[in-house]
Amino acid sequence: MSSIAIELDQVVKEYPGRLALKGISFQVKKGRIHGFLGPNGAGKSTTMKIITGLLRANSGNVSIIEGERIGFLPENPPLYMNMKVEGYLQYVKNLYSLDKDHGGDSLEVIMKKCGLLDVKERLIRNLSKGYKQRVGIASTLVHNPEIIILDEPTVGLDPKAILEIRDLIKELSRNHTILLSTHQLYEANLLCEDITIINKGEILTTGEVSQIREKISGGQRLYVEVEGARSEILEKMVQELPIELRDQVLGDISSFKVLSKEAHDIRSRLSSFLAKEGCIVLSLKEETMDLEGIFKEVTFGVQDAQGN
Ligand SMILES: Nc1ncnc2c1ncn2[C@@H]1O[C@H](COP(=O)(O)OP(=O)(O)OP(=O)(O)O)[C@@H](O)[C@H]1O
Ligand SMILES: [Mg+2]
Repeated sequence: MSSIAIELDQVVKEYPGRLALKGISFQVKKGRIHGFLGPNGAGKSTTMKIITGLLRANSGNVSIIEGERIGFLPENPPLYMNMKVEGYLQYVKNLYSLDKDHGGDSLEVIMKKCGLLDVKERLIRNLSKGYKQRVGIASTLVHNPEIIILDEPTVGLDPKAILEIRDLIKELSRNHTILLSTHQLYEANLLCEDITIINKGEILTTGEVSQIREKISGGQRLYVEVEGARSEILEKMVQELPIELRDQVLGDISSFKVLSKEAHDIRSRLSSFLAKEGCIVLSLKEETMDLEGIFKEVTFGVQDAQGN
């Protein structure tokens, strides 16, 4: 069992006249990249500010693994535009080191990791958005935090910068626990092992992507192509095997989807049934639900109910 780096228990946040978090609970495991997903206004930034202590919850509890520090990249990273990159990072480091030196990488190493060595003497105001974001991320590392929280780290960047920042996040995940928020399901799919989906201040689902996928899609989903299938054969198949049929197209080559109602692998039973009936199985592929599918599935009822 991996240990828990961050745990939220029934956290409620009410802004004047607006209930932003309705008692949310989830856990971020140590050493993992955890994606925090949800549409605009869902409560992602509010949650991150509460975890980092910038906002106070009205009730509920946030625990951080003992002795671990947090580095936080807010939605709009506050940078001093008139400072040079290295000077700024040194300044942030000095602020954190007022009480003690937290050790960790030197500024030189941090700038190297974040691809900033070539621009270290430049004024932050003159940097492109992607480089400003790198400075923001670098500034979260100067006090040697174990946990890094990134609020939409790739938003507004060009495709090349997005790839570079994602690589940087992956690199950082080797030594850190990372909680990152994003609207981009594709991005979460690429980067994250665990996800939490929030909508209108409520957690819709949380856990390992693979487990959530399994829970939502139930049993196996197969895409099958066969020669020699007739409708009677398919009817018999549905009666004999614990499956549902979808999207069938009959012809010389027929195709259909099979949703297994049971958790175990149905492929061999399915192919021997078809062979027995004289069909030739051309392909039998397992479909996995991507995050987009998961997101649609978990937000479907909710958004309908709320008239979105
Ligand atoms: N300071 C504030 N005062 C009042 N309401 C606020 C404040 N900050 C956020 N809210 C409201 O709380 C809700 C959650 O906002 P939050 O910024 O946490 O969402 P988010 O998931 O980060 O959205 P986005 O994807 O747009 O960044 C929204 O309805 C927002 O309007
Ligand atoms: Mg936000």
